[in-house]
Amino acid sequence: MKTIFSGIQPSGTITIGNYIGALKQFVELQNDYHCYFCIVDQHAITVPQDPQQLKQNIRNLAALYLAVGIDPEKATLFIQSEVPAHAQAAWMLQCISYIGELERMTQFKDKSAGKEAVSAGLLTYPPLMAADILLYNADLVPVGEDQKQHLELTRDLAERFNKKYASIFTLPDIKVNEVGARIMSLQEPTKKMSKSDANQKAFISLLDTPKQIEKKIKSAVTDSEGIVKFDKENKPGISNLLAIYSIFSKQSIEELEKKYEGQGYGVFKADVANAVISELTPIQERYQNLVESTKLDDILTNGAEKANKVASAMIAKMEKAMGLGRH
Ligand code: TYM
Repeated sequence: MKTIFSGIQPSGTITIGNYIGALKQFVELQNDYHCYFCIVDQHAITVPQDPQQLKQNIRNLAALYLAVGIDPEKATLFIQSEVPAHAQAAWMLQCISYIGELERMTQFKDKSAGKEAVSAGLLTYPPLMAADILLYNADLVPVGEDQKQHLELTRDLAERFNKKYASIFTLPDIKVNEVGARIMSLQEPTKKMSKSDANQKAFISLLDTPKQIEKKIKSAVTDSEGIVKFDKENKPGISNLLAIYSIFSKQSIEELEKKYEGQGYGVFKADVANAVISELTPIQERYQNLVESTKLDDILTNGAEKANKVASAMIAKMEKAMGLGRH
């Protein structure tokens, strides 16, 4: 059975972008792959986080993983910082990364632009991500489109290590959805929807109330044409809502275009909101039952134990290959 690794940062409450681009894929894939799903808290601290808030976000994200349908019997769910191998492998991979290639990462450029105090961790974020993936010899990494460049670097680092030291790493392939690989901001539909957006109206979080969801979709930026048609270039707002609606209603974009022919945006937006609400309501109910439960702790403890076993065996191989310690 092939192996999958993927992670989500606990840097806020996850959005329908994370859900569509990543989580929804995870739930489907867990039946056919050996899966590791991670709460990447060490990635989150590459930008400032409030410790209490981060702690809560980690727990919330773990509960959400389960609430959307990740089955701990099938997949290993764990917190990155509870498996020390990630930081150890990241260091080794940093030492074969070039500053130039890290500086070229668009996420680094975006997150550091115009800032005075940029952490070194923000620059060395991609080798940590490569470590996550390579430690488990993942064959496939399901992510949203924004992670493509990081995945390419992961492959480059794996190849470099394999050539220079010993051929121990599998080169992972990326897996992105056809529709919904990049859900856009509701307020600036040419920008990615992000959980760390300062404008709350720009994203729908998985824990938003039905009222909030209705309001946010109603005030989503569209255009004045009044035609429900998929055209990313000229109608980014409507195209984004169509993609969201298509995923949540399981209807194709063409079907939806037909359905709303001759109707204005009002009815369309109300229906998009209803589709989102009816998918998120049962997830939120399951989440509420899980988030403060001891069951959640048991699952995470068990997950960290399983991950630690696999990851520490890979650390031994990496250290041996590089000549570290007394292997
Ligand atoms: P993060 O936490 O920003 O996002 C988690 C996942 O959600 C996807 N995603 C989106 N998909 C569609 N539309 C959007 N607007 C959208 N926003 C986010 C992301 O592509 C991602 O799949 N570096 C990663 C976390 C990470 C990771 C890993 C992922 C760390 N180690 C190893 C895979 C494998 C990140 O910041 O994701």
